[in-house]
Amino acid sequence: MTTAPNAATVAPAARIWVLGAGGFLGSHLVEALLKQGRYRITAVDTSFAKLPPRLQEQGRLTRVEASIADTGVLAAAVDESDVVLSLTALCNPALYNTRPLAVIDANYTHLVPLVERCAAARRWLVHFSTCEVYGRSLRGPAGLTAPMREDDSPLVLGSVAQQRWTYASAKQLLERLIWAYGAEQGLPFTIVRPFNVIGPRMDFIDGIDGVGTPRVLACFMAALLGDEPLCLVDGGEQRRAFIAVQDFTEAILRLVARPRRCQGEIINLGHPGNDVSIAELAARMAEVFQERHAARRATRIAFERVSAVDFYGVGYDDTNRRIPDIGKARRLLDWEPTTSLAQMLPTIVDDYVARYGEAFRGVDPREPR
Ligand code: UGA
Repeated sequence: MTTAPNAATVAPAARIWVLGAGGFLGSHLVEALLKQGRYRITAVDTSFAKLPPRLQEQGRLTRVEASIADTGVLAAAVDESDVVLSLTALCNPALYNTRPLAVIDANYTHLVPLVERCAAARRWLVHFSTCEVYGRSLRGPAGLTAPMREDDSPLVLGSVAQQRWTYASAKQLLERLIWAYGAEQGLPFTIVRPFNVIGPRMDFIDGIDGVGTPRVLACFMAALLGDEPLCLVDGGEQRRAFIAVQDFTEAILRLVARPRRCQGEIINLGHPGNDVSIAELAARMAEVFQERHAARRATRIAFERVSAVDFYGVGYDDTNRRIPDIGKARRLLDWEPTTSLAQMLPTIVDDYVARYGEAFRGVDPREPR
């Protein structure tokens, strides 16, 4: 059942502003939207390093190198668009308990003006929230992990001292703000909750194109390329369901083309069939790396158990398992994620090797490029 708090509808979007277009999801979305050939895209970010250079030539793409803290940019985004896709975030768990103020600002405070402006102009806001709002794993009646559902699952966060949950709290409060503007002032909105999207160009490698601890995929790739053991936090028994970025972008293309169906909705996007333990993910990535790039390792691939406190510091907490219910996405978008982990891992591993291999070990003549 649709729970739309407003009845606003608009014609299909033609002018799309993508805030955070230079990041992992943003760069894939810009590429996919441009391929449709019917949208004019304005891409906003402080860096476009991840945007494939061939796209930058496209007449239908305008790049604006700016922060969303720039009020002129924010005003233009709302005034000159049919829909705003809002992707800016600080979304690496290593930051949640170490830089909580920056996390709250990036995921809540700095986005409030965007929500207010969209509400005032009745502009369609598609906000990318997170599966983290569900918090800890939910237990179903049989003791099994219950899939997380947009409109009736409880959101279960840890204590305030467990600062891991600053991010989820900030994201949840922004969702509530958007919902309230929808209910009270007719803001047309859609909230997307991505569940562990992975793919080429994800995150960064510490010391090469970023600083700190990225999400698990980039951590494992750094270890594989750097001849280090793969760290399994608390043994790696926790589970995640990973979705390929191409399945995810396909859902967003459909969403953007269906304002009538999708406005007023919160929509999970994930692939419940790709539920694996982190230890299993490590083993599968190691296997793919071994098959395709063995010459890059001087030592055998190893796995090392580390405690969460040693890896992330005090205040970290975790979700043991996170499975999306995607019934609503199926219904509203006529969409189904189809890419298995076995299908996506070789492309992802190859992408990291192509982008970072040289920085790690210099050009290896035995390696096909
Ligand atoms: C993160 C973010 O918090 C969310 O913003 C985002 O929605 C979500 O990823 C996502 O990608 O959709 P999480 O899944 O906990 O949440 O992030 P990862 O850093 O990818 O960690 C996954 C699991 O791997 C965690 O249990 C972590 O402890 C573990 N891990 C991480 C390792 O075992 N080894 C590592 O080297 C890194």
